Amino acid sequence: MVLSYKHEQLTDFTNLENKKAFEEALQVVNSQLGQDYPLVIGGERITTDEKIISKNPANKEEIIGTVSKANKDLAEKAMQTAVATFETWKKWDPEARANILFRAAAMIRRRKHEFSSYLVKEAGKPWKEADADTAEAIDFLEYYARQMIKLKDGVPVESREGEINKFNYIPLGVGVIISPFNFPLAIMAGTTVAAIVAGNTVLLKPSNNTPVVAAKFVEVMEEAGLPKGVLNYIPGSGAEVGDYLVDHPKTRFVSFTGSREVGCRIYERAAKVHPGQIWLKRVIAEMGGKDTVVVDKDADLDLAASSIVYSAFGFSGQKCSAGSRAVIHEDVYNEVLEKAVALTKTLTVGNPEDVNNYMGPVIDQAAYNKIMKYIGIGKEEGKLMCGGEGDDSKGYFIQPTIIADVDEKARLMQEEIFGPVVAFCKARDFDHMMEIANNTEYGLTGALLSNNREHIERARAEFHVGNLYFNRGCTAAIVGYQPFGGFNMSGTDSKAGGPDYLILHMQAKTTGELL
Ligand code: NAD
Ligand code: ALA
Repeated sequence: MVLSYKHEQLTDFTNLENKKAFEEALQVVNSQLGQDYPLVIGGERITTDEKIISKNPANKEEIIGTVSKANKDLAEKAMQTAVATFETWKKWDPEARANILFRAAAMIRRRKHEFSSYLVKEAGKPWKEADADTAEAIDFLEYYARQMIKLKDGVPVESREGEINKFNYIPLGVGVIISPFNFPLAIMAGTTVAAIVAGNTVLLKPSNNTPVVAAKFVEVMEEAGLPKGVLNYIPGSGAEVGDYLVDHPKTRFVSFTGSREVGCRIYERAAKVHPGQIWLKRVIAEMGGKDTVVVDKDADLDLAASSIVYSAFGFSGQKCSAGSRAVIHEDVYNEVLEKAVALTKTLTVGNPEDVNNYMGPVIDQAAYNKIMKYIGIGKEEGKLMCGGEGDDSKGYFIQPTIIADVDEKARLMQEEIFGPVVAFCKARDFDHMMEIANNTEYGLTGALLSNNREHIERARAEFHVGNLYFNRGCTAAIVGYQPFGGFNMSGTDSKAGGPDYLILHMQAKTTGELL
């Protein structure tokens, strides 16, 4: 019997035993650095001459792993393998498919700190953020397995006398899974296993910043009993392998998570029907955000300040859900700003291997340059209150930065920066707060800090984001509890970790029989 779903507990690192266990896992992972990781196509390990070198963003000299790189020919080989394997995998009992996910969840749970240590090293995640990423990956496995079991016999429909009608979900075909660097385990694993448990075969192209943790996950899925050819691991250039597979006539669907720019490109390319293609491709595209924490005049101001700060600076602001704008009622603006600045000044930035560092590096040189450029823009558009400095001599470190008195239409208030930068903006009244909250092209997450019931209910209706939270920050959605996905240019609102998610990877078939 399958027990009901409960999310994975986060690790308490103030417990010395947990701390020691994590330190030991870090040591093990440090001893495994620099290994070679081949592609995996139909279970076959393929090593290429061209490599992706995965480096530690906290220490550019340190190589996490050397990963073989797919080209168009290998992408084609992977596609042919996935097409052939679909013919058998789609016939598997959905419960047997789900059991593979349960086994993989148990295996990752047993090796939790090891996986988190890879996230510390490869993505620069501080311990707590890495632990949450691993927990979320386990949650996706546990949750989607149960969702598949619920859906396996379809959904009841009406039948008249002398007739039996049925409504069942069947898989789609080959899915291309393209994942981002910022939840290198959770999002990569979640998007992959949702497609797989629904009966599809997949081609997984992880972020080039974080291919090693993806390779480790592929190993787990194999050990958990996934047949060869269901999950094909093909890291490679987005422009080469990504475009080739998005355009491919045998691609049935694309599940993408990443930037708006790439998401829109995929959406547009996937719309074109190529010779030999007998379907319209489905695209799940979860993209960027410009997320707002709104503070009402009667809010708990300490809670407001901490909600702003932790939403803005968790994992150095590199979450699609990060609160990169604080919109505050003018009566309490100065007080909240002062409290937020004071709290931010207590945050430590440094090597994420040290549990005492709240923030690690940003992911790479391009991200560092982009964020520093925005800090420059911020200094012109507003007033630098704290942070503003970076150091890329060893790794890509940027201080948590608050820019105050920013106009609601300024670039800092409109464009996704994806780094530890938050803009503060003053609002006249609640109408004005809602107007500013909704004035971007995105619509992913948001939070309102308020003790005014009428305002909370108004925000519930008016604040147009996929994930809205009250009296807390705007990050840290939990699988199965707060299904995640955004409106407008934040994407297709697929709601990862929600009850409808698997259905996006399937098609419904109706059968009617006269008795
Ligand atoms: P990115 O768009 O640069 O890369 C994402 C993936 O797309 C990578 O695997 C990359 O190699 C691939 N890619 C690049 N060019 C491609 C192409 N032409 N065809 C196909 N694939 C291509 O994003 P990133 O920097 O890895 O991640 C950060 C972005 O992701 C932010 O914008 C963030 O808001 C967004 N994000 C959104 C969500 C969400 O659920 N809405 C979750 C996480 C991250
Ligand atoms: N699930 C992640 C969050 O909500 C993206 O922060």
